[in-house]
Amino acid sequence: MIQISNPHELQRYTNHTKESIGFVPTMGALHDGHISLIKRSVKENAKTVVSIFVNPTQFLEGEDLDSYPRKLEADLKICELAGVDCVFLPNKEEIYKKDEPLVKAPKIKGYILEGLKRPGHFDGVLQIVLKLLNLTKATRAYFGKKDAQQLFLIQDMVKRFFLNIDIVACDIVRDSNGLALSSRNLYLSEEEKKKALCLSKSLKRATRLIIEGERDCMILKSRMLEILSPLSVEYVEIVDRKFNLIDKIQIDNTIILVAAFAGKTRLIDNMWV
Ligand code: PAJ
Repeated sequence: MIQISNPHELQRYTNHTKESIGFVPTMGALHDGHISLIKRSVKENAKTVVSIFVNPTQFLEGEDLDSYPRKLEADLKICELAGVDCVFLPNKEEIYKKDEPLVKAPKIKGYILEGLKRPGHFDGVLQIVLKLLNLTKATRAYFGKKDAQQLFLIQDMVKRFFLNIDIVACDIVRDSNGLALSSRNLYLSEEEKKKALCLSKSLKRATRLIIEGERDCMILKSRMLEILSPLSVEYVEIVDRKFNLIDKIQIDNTIILVAAFAGKTRLIDNMWV
């Protein structure tokens, strides 16, 4: 496994690679969710590139950029064991210059839900992902459904900017209690971890009600909110797979989303119905 920190060096590496390249962008503190993306890439491509970069432009003022977990040594071991060929570890000075062209998330779908609570977050996500996709020239790039709105906006950017890459959507990995894995779970105390289970429980309740025949989104949301009461909820929302808000469940075309704070830690989760 090679480690590259200079973008031009990565370009040289990917230019010389004639076989298929799978790419998994991450911010590190790798867990089984990331590992499932990496393993899928290793299986489906001749070479796999993983990037580890805590991208400053997607953090808002006052968010956890400085305290975001950094575990480089363990991350490198994980990548090596998973069969990764190249880890890209850029530093921010080489990625960003002071005055450069910017990428803006769509005005509506980039500024609802996560984008409403974290305005500008998706501008930063799309900016770094566009740079990384251009640098890696990957055949396929792997993203988790855990960040459903991010996944949608990246698929949309790839389409709208005519990028020649396959975006692969990967299932959410959860712990045995149902908690969706996240690097930010490291912030949770034992007590908060218990409370955090309300997110997946609320989604399970909604799914059960849908199986029983309930289709009304208002009713489903209010039943979810009952379970979420121990947390400070930011939103519970139901959208179709193109992120239009809906009021009736459309089977095989719906995502139920929740964002809430457990203590000071902001968590998101969702269920594809
Ligand atoms: P990060 O939060 O490190 O996540 C990297 C990738 O892992 C994302 O595609 C995310 O959806 C996926 N992922 C995280 N938790 C998961 C889980 N429990 N199950 C399945 N997949 C999971 O998302 C980012 O980094 C950044 O925004 C990035 C795309 C790297 C741009 O900076």
